[in-house]
Amino acid sequence: MNRTLREAFHREYMTFFEQAERTRRWNPFTDIPWEDLRDSRPDERLALCAETFCGVEMFLPDYLKAHLDLCGGNYGQAWFAANWGYEESRHSLVLREYLHRSGQRTEEQLFDYAEDVLSRTWRSPYDEGRQMVVYGAVQELTTFVIYRKQRDLAARSGDSVLAEVYRLIGRDEMAHAKFYQRMLQLHLETDRVGTLHDLAHVLRTFRMPAEDILPDYEARVAVMRTAGIDSGVFFKEVVLPTLAAMGLSRHDLPGPRARAAVDVPIRREPHRRVP
Ligand SMILES: [Fe+2]
Ligand SMILES: [Fe+2]
Repeated sequence: MNRTLREAFHREYMTFFEQAERTRRWNPFTDIPWEDLRDSRPDERLALCAETFCGVEMFLPDYLKAHLDLCGGNYGQAWFAANWGYEESRHSLVLREYLHRSGQRTEEQLFDYAEDVLSRTWRSPYDEGRQMVVYGAVQELTTFVIYRKQRDLAARSGDSVLAEVYRLIGRDEMAHAKFYQRMLQLHLETDRVGTLHDLAHVLRTFRMPAEDILPDYEARVAVMRTAGIDSGVFFKEVVLPTLAAMGLSRHDLPGPRARAAVDVPIRREPHRRVP
């Protein structure tokens, strides 16, 4: 990655961090109205979803490793990874607190679950740094959409505490999605053809991280459908807004067969590979 792009990433990170410090810090112990849990009734469907998302968020060490492997002396990206990791660490933690404080899981159950999750390994789905930036933009926005739907579901079920938990997590996910979108915009300005190719490739092959390596995955699948993310929702609420944020439409994306034509004539920036 050239110096101009590294400098631009650094400026973007400073804007992101300043905004996060000013407007988006929250405390899982004091900013959630935990006392209101006494007004809500246990709901196993909501609890199973919360436990599943808690598990997905718990692969944080693997996500962080993938981030840091891609940084390679890039100050802005490395500091983003550190701050991103801190913010993400609150997500599994607050869902864990919810499950325990609402009486729907014991400390022992949650400890066993964490041990089970952390005995498994998530591997990053793409080798190239720029494709991982696309993946980050898509994954963060998809996560935001999922949490927004869970928030609505919790509110309709009378669980205002869980709704607030999802609101705070979702706000972080949206901020992360916007940061990745800005990084992608910078890539587009540097290498439009190559970036469009990576965008098309990741959009065609995207899968949410880790859900399929969670313990008891099969049992979770049916309940997870309540998250309401099918291909239509993904296209309308994730793909189109991601493209629109960069001033693109789906007609700007090359088809799969364009790869050879894209790869040959242009000089592409080398990207670090994730082992
Ligand atoms: Fe998260
Ligand atoms: Fe996130």
